[in-house]
Amino acid sequence: MRITLLDTGECFDCHADESVLHGLARLGKRGIPVGCRGGGCGVCKVEVVSGAFRKKAMSRAHVSAEEEARGAVLACRICAEGDLQVKAVGKLQQAVQRTIEWQCRGGQRTGPAKAA
Ligand code: FES
Repeated sequence: MRITLLDTGECFDCHADESVLHGLARLGKRGIPVGCRGGGCGVCKVEVVSGAFRKKAMSRAHVSAEEEARGAVLACRICAEGDLQVKAVGKLQQAVQRTIEWQCRGGQRTGPAKAA
């Protein structure tokens, strides 16, 4: 299955028997958080915009019923059943945004110069 991360336009492949987070981690993107991989920390929240998937139980502490109704899931708790389009949400969205900004700077760290 092909997964598209709409935030960056990047795609990655995912096997039917592995989580979407597992595939996302293979992108090797700097700063993408890979937390507990078991639904316990909530850092891998995404919104599935299109496509079919299987999901395992998710804690309401991390995905409310309202969020789930809008397509929010934990990437570590879903497996694609076809091509998916997803958007990062919450902490994952912040990490993706930081990665995009870092790439726009040519991979250079910016900020105040260190005092001599
Ligand atoms: S990695 Fe912790 S909830 Fe998904």
